[in-house]
Amino acid sequence: MTNDSSDAPQTTPAGQAMWGGRFSDKPAELMQAINVSIGFDRRLAPQDLAGSRAHAAMLRKAGVISSEDEAAIQQGLAQIGEEIAAGTFPFREEYEDIHMNVEARLRELIGPSAGRLHTARSRNDQVALDFRMWVREACERTAGLVQALQRALLAKAEAHAETLMPGFTHLQPAQPVTFGHHLMAYVEMFGRDAGRFADARARMNESPLGAAALAGSPFPIDRHMTAQALGFERPTANSLDSVSDRDFALEALAAGSICALHLSRLAEEIVVWMTPQFGFVRLTDAFTTGSSIMPQKKNPDAAELVRAKAGKALGSFQQLSVVMKGLPLAYSKDMQEDKVPTFEAFDALELSLRAMTGMVADLEPNAERMAAAAGAGFSTATDLADWLVRELNLPFRDAHHVTGAAVKRAEELGCDLPGLPLAELQALESRITDRVYEVLTPEASVASRKSYGGTAPVQVRAQIKRWKEVLQ
Ligand code: ARG
Repeated sequence: MTNDSSDAPQTTPAGQAMWGGRFSDKPAELMQAINVSIGFDRRLAPQDLAGSRAHAAMLRKAGVISSEDEAAIQQGLAQIGEEIAAGTFPFREEYEDIHMNVEARLRELIGPSAGRLHTARSRNDQVALDFRMWVREACERTAGLVQALQRALLAKAEAHAETLMPGFTHLQPAQPVTFGHHLMAYVEMFGRDAGRFADARARMNESPLGAAALAGSPFPIDRHMTAQALGFERPTANSLDSVSDRDFALEALAAGSICALHLSRLAEEIVVWMTPQFGFVRLTDAFTTGSSIMPQKKNPDAAELVRAKAGKALGSFQQLSVVMKGLPLAYSKDMQEDKVPTFEAFDALELSLRAMTGMVADLEPNAERMAAAAGAGFSTATDLADWLVRELNLPFRDAHHVTGAAVKRAEELGCDLPGLPLAELQALESRITDRVYEVLTPEASVASRKSYGGTAPVQVRAQIKRWKEVLQ
């Protein structure tokens, strides 16, 4: 049988291009240098083999190739899989990409039957399939790593559901919260990230195989059969879209960008908390490094690198968007540039997730220091204002004014709010009684914030319990 697709490589001896029939000269060295992709798309070898095996089985079932040819192809592909696993497979630049490397090797192993594998298929749908399967797995892997990080955060949050720390706005002390509550904020963020990877995975789970070069195939192929064999929900419904869509990768990179951004925010907080000026947490030697000149230093390098590696994910989304934005339908070679940014983004993200999971488990808060900071900066001023509203029925605006004056007076006297004498408070509002002191400690402030999702330990524990159920 002959091959129908416009991109029909003929298997030829090494040194001649697969499309040798139409060409009499070899490509210029520079042509090969800019064209070659085997250096990076060799990572698609497992997906390429799986796709070819499903395609060969389908061609046989459809009566397009004989059982003998299929058996030879399957046996050859299995051997190639072993060679790749053993590190003995000859990846050769003259065969440009992973697809032609596999086919060339198949021909060496089984002879002319190899030339029948590419029937009713093009490298355009082949690469779309391989890359989609790679991105699908990356989404699964990454979602799993995100959940591992969530579990580490949950464990730490549970141990510190009552550990006080200052809550900040504008990085100024605002109101006391608990360390557990703060960590649970990240559990929420990473929960949405895992959801985004799952959504992207579900949307991309359609098989482009059989779209061929761009228009479909005249052979009686069964695209539903290959889709099912490769774990897809269904085949893609438009052959042009099938070979020219890369928004599955963009969507995964978008999810990855947001996740990396969340990791970076947590990394930044760890860096700040580790400074002697804050002194909120410490990391063991396992996740810090020293300085070659300053013997006293303990640097949070892992956190800094997680913060920096977010650039890979964010940059990759940008890079692939720019590659795609001007492309007419259907396939253009520009799209070969989709892989490197995607591989780099997911490599960086996976390493960052692992490192962050390790750091979170390693993180030990300095509870005394955080509690002291939680009470500093007049952090219970809102509690005083709320008390005036509740107990004396003051309008909140008036209560805010009285409280502001109390803070000013405490500042003048060099004390904090709980240390401000009752007479001073009564000079501002005569009806204040000494019961007000019950609400002015950070413990009381935190315990009082029992609204759903608030920082009160009972609420934090309720959220921890819910997430534990979700994550098991
Ligand atoms: N190496 C190519 C890529 O990654 C495979 C598809 C090539 N198709 C073609 N018509 N030249 O995009």
